[in-house]
Amino acid sequence: MLIKNFFLNLSQNQLLIKMAENYGLALGAKNVVGGTTVTEMVEHVKALNEAGLTATVDRLGEFVTERDVAIRFKSEILEVIEAIHTNKLNAHISLKPTQLGLGIDKDFCLENLKEIVSAAENHNIFINMDMEDYPNIETTYELLGQLKKEHNNVGTVIQAYLYRAEKDVFKHEGTRMRIVKGAYKEPEDVALQDKKEIDRNFRRLIEHHLLHGEFTSIATHDHHVINDTLQFVEKHNIPKEKYEFQMLYGFRRDYQLKLVQEGHAVCTYVPFGTDWYGYFMRRLAERPQNINLVLKQAFNRKTKIALGAAGGAVLLSQLVKKRSS
Ligand code: FDA
Repeated sequence: MLIKNFFLNLSQNQLLIKMAENYGLALGAKNVVGGTTVTEMVEHVKALNEAGLTATVDRLGEFVTERDVAIRFKSEILEVIEAIHTNKLNAHISLKPTQLGLGIDKDFCLENLKEIVSAAENHNIFINMDMEDYPNIETTYELLGQLKKEHNNVGTVIQAYLYRAEKDVFKHEGTRMRIVKGAYKEPEDVALQDKKEIDRNFRRLIEHHLLHGEFTSIATHDHHVINDTLQFVEKHNIPKEKYEFQMLYGFRRDYQLKLVQEGHAVCTYVPFGTDWYGYFMRRLAERPQNINLVLKQAFNRKTKIALGAAGGAVLLSQLVKKRSS
């Protein structure tokens, strides 16, 4: 838990976020991020498609506080939609509402989203709104409701660690949904803290949405959950067109391919762009073994400099915290 909190705190450290943007893909991030440009992303997605996987592409970025930055992200996501269309990629989009200004003004964010969702609809491309931390959840559902009035190519995510998750699954049976365990650090008055309880709830929500929902994306690297899901779909004759598994780019590659070879739909989440730092730190928080990705790069000069700088900044922020608490 200590390590998890350590990396989750790092994921929101503004100084390190800024520094990381200038370093390119350092600290081993290139193993789990599909490049920094659209051209690089397209090559990664083409390779996945050739291997039989689909993709969901995330132009990395989150918690934006300035309008012009949110507008820049909107333009870049529109560019990604065009790239998916012109390159005939088998892919859809994942985006974060706070990347498009949810933290600035909800209506401003909605206007940005409308433009993206309707451009994607013209090319038959689905848009998934990732679910972020608790303060943004209710407003993300409100945005979903507004968008669904005019568009069908949009959905979002249910986080199994939340007490409210069951109610949300029931309410959104008619929407394509991704179901996850949940990646943010949430307090115990809103979220389960015990891993076993989260896993149990995760299975219950997946089963409910498979039986009653529109289309279910089961997003996990957990082979126990995937095996149970496979038994469940067989027992209940759930058609293959009704679900897929989703995993992150760079994680369990062999397992992703094995599932495809066994005839299951697998979609790889491909994050790309210079704003990789928060995403990467959350991955380290989830699974300390992912630190191996960093250690493998330990002899790379850039990494040494970045690790040194990161360490210094962490120490500094711990000191500041100690003083303020
Ligand atoms: P978890 O980390 O709980 O591990 C369970 C077990 O699985 C491990 O003990 C191990 O046996 C096995 N395992 C896991 N990773 C492995 C690996 N790399 N190699 C070998 N074995 C491994 N969260 C959120 O809050 N909002 C969102 O919108 C999203 N979106 C999203 C999309 C996609 C495609 C994915 C895969 C995940 C998300 N998440 C997310 C993150 C999610 O909430 C969760 O934090 C992570 O998926 C980690 O949980 P897992 O279920 O993968 O396994």
